[in-house]
Amino acid sequence: MVKERLFTPGPVPLPPQVIRALGQQIIHHRTPEFTNIFLQTRKNLQKLLNTSRDVLTFASSGTGAMEACIVNFLSRGDRVLVINAGKFGERWRDLGLSYGLDVIDYQIEWGKTYDKERVKEILTDNPDTKGILVQHSETSTTTLHDLKFLAEMSNSLEDCLLIVDGITSVGVYRVFPEEIGIDLLITGSQKALMLPPGLSVLYYSEKAQRRLDKSDLPKYYFSVKAESKKQAKGQTAYTPAINLIVALSESLKMILDEGLENLEKRHEILAQMTREAMKELGLRLLSESPSNSATGVFTPEGIDADLFRKELQKIGVRVAGGQDHLKGKIIRIAHMGYFDYLDMIEVISAIEIILHKMGYKVELGKGVKRAQEILINNLQGVT
Ligand SMILES: Cc1ncc(COP(=O)(O)O)c(C=O)c1O
Repeated sequence: MVKERLFTPGPVPLPPQVIRALGQQIIHHRTPEFTNIFLQTRKNLQKLLNTSRDVLTFASSGTGAMEACIVNFLSRGDRVLVINAGKFGERWRDLGLSYGLDVIDYQIEWGKTYDKERVKEILTDNPDTKGILVQHSETSTTTLHDLKFLAEMSNSLEDCLLIVDGITSVGVYRVFPEEIGIDLLITGSQKALMLPPGLSVLYYSEKAQRRLDKSDLPKYYFSVKAESKKQAKGQTAYTPAINLIVALSESLKMILDEGLENLEKRHEILAQMTREAMKELGLRLLSESPSNSATGVFTPEGIDADLFRKELQKIGVRVAGGQDHLKGKIIRIAHMGYFDYLDMIEVISAIEIILHKMGYKVELGKGVKRAQEILINNLQGVT
């Protein structure tokens, strides 16, 4: 018997509270019972994002919320800058192109973040830019992009929105859109919200709201106007993902009980344990600006990362691989959501075992020891 341990950057493991909530009999959504749960959940989403503004949920995967950003807040021919540093940056670009936007595709080497001077240059040359689209945490390369600078840039233009895919950063970091200056922020359920896939979340600023009447792109299911009217009353325009909303109310309780500062600290320690252990084992990290949601790391020369993953699976550990040109070269280890410190010790230990099995010279326990040291150093500050 081998247990299945998920360390993929989505979906991530589900906490027992969420599993219990999902296991309940379904309730009807046109009832006061659902409305109460939904309104409370909306309030808790606002707490998560430290805002009193409208925060919508859609029954869709994260890409649905990305699409909602485009079709509600932009118009055909609008010029937008896409910070394209990986698979999901490409998705912003492709979505924009599908809807006839004039996309400036700023391509960045995978594993790197954007160059401030280059962004400044592009925007100086294109002062009519209507949106900057970025991943806060680019999951395909496990890279974090700084938002503060982009917010400044966006604000320096006449009418530009900062549009942020926070799918693997919300619930890992304190992503407070009003403080940072984000106009649109989205996330998805199967990441740090610790739920199955199927729900997405969208925050929009006052500045963004003013665009709602101007946007000329076609929309029906993902209409922010239609949803905001309904959701303010605790209902949805169409049938909601009822059980996911019920489960979201549980996971948000967990998140808020932990406290956002503690949550951010925990993720920082989990990430540090993983990154430092990998380095101690002589492995090279992919990202120059690593995100605390997942760690991408190259397998050693001569060890195919996908074979390596298969070996890990045999002992019960599932990590993700690389996409496109990184396929077979890297593994990605998640540490967002329902993970605690000993989970990381487990995955690091498994990696050592498989490195050894595949003939890489490794001093067993070296990475684990490094992770333990980091944990011990941090334990005093851990609540
Ligand atoms: C940063 C980021 N953006 C977008 C997506 C797409 O989300 P979904 O697969 O839920 O549509 C993902 C999924 O992994 C992601 O990590």
